[in-house]
Amino acid sequence: MTTIKIFCPATIANLNCGFDVMGLCLETIGDEMIFRKSAVKGIQITKITGANLPFEATKNVAGVAALALIENLDLDFGFEIEIHKKIKAGSGIGSSSASAAGAVFGINELLGNPFSRNQLVYFAMKGEAIASGSEHADNVAPCLLGGFTLIRGYNPLDVIKIDAPNELYAVVLHPHIEIKTADARAVLEPTIPFQNAITQWGNLGGLISGLYTNDYELISRSLQDVVIEPFRKHLIPNFDDVKNIAIQNGALGSGISGAGPSIFALCKGENTANKVASAMRETYLKTNISFDVYISKINDEGVKII
Ligand code: HSE
Repeated sequence: MTTIKIFCPATIANLNCGFDVMGLCLETIGDEMIFRKSAVKGIQITKITGANLPFEATKNVAGVAALALIENLDLDFGFEIEIHKKIKAGSGIGSSSASAAGAVFGINELLGNPFSRNQLVYFAMKGEAIASGSEHADNVAPCLLGGFTLIRGYNPLDVIKIDAPNELYAVVLHPHIEIKTADARAVLEPTIPFQNAITQWGNLGGLISGLYTNDYELISRSLQDVVIEPFRKHLIPNFDDVKNIAIQNGALGSGISGAGPSIFALCKGENTANKVASAMRETYLKTNISFDVYISKINDEGVKII
């Protein structure tokens, strides 16, 4: 195999109670990338559509992740990468992560899969870091592994995949404003009150337990964020209105997707997801900000060859 085309899905990070450690994989939105083996050593980015991104590999998220992967391999050939972006930068649904995860997945495939998907998370994180200014894996991990992922630890990296309950749907409202992850991280306090920490880790344990036992009520009770949301929600116009309407219409929970501005809701069943999506849409039509709404099952597969 010398050429492949792949689908790199969008992801939702944090999931309210799991800042920097939880994420899930979406299936209805994602980028495409094409990889070719080349006689020229190293990484060349030959085509980019849908976004204005650097072609220089050392400045491009996909390029940096790809270079991290091949760095210690003694290869006498290289790779060409085409990046076709569908996920907008700064949207909060893992745009840079899709490129980073896609890059390492594609090259690993062309190399005959020397690394497992779990091992690829480490290299993808190196690419993600140049976009966001920090190494976090809560978008690249679900993009690579599918389902839900928990980053149990960063040093050493310990990533656990959790299968999604069958009837779970995600709704995402993406307001067309850009929030840079670095900016959304800059508004956070370096310390958190003890009581908030107790609430947050109780909820994270509850969410994990609810996912393993298909307990939708427990998932619902656990989708709370007392640590991050209070600082970030002001960056997102009409955040409270959208979140409240989602919950009033039956969502299990709602919150900021990643660093925002996208707002997500998790729902049990497609009918509820459709109802929640309509209500969120109606609410945002009252603003003068354009937006998209996506409804997606949880994608169990992650990044894949198409
Ligand atoms: N956990 C990260 C954050 C995800 O919220 O800053 C965004 O890339």
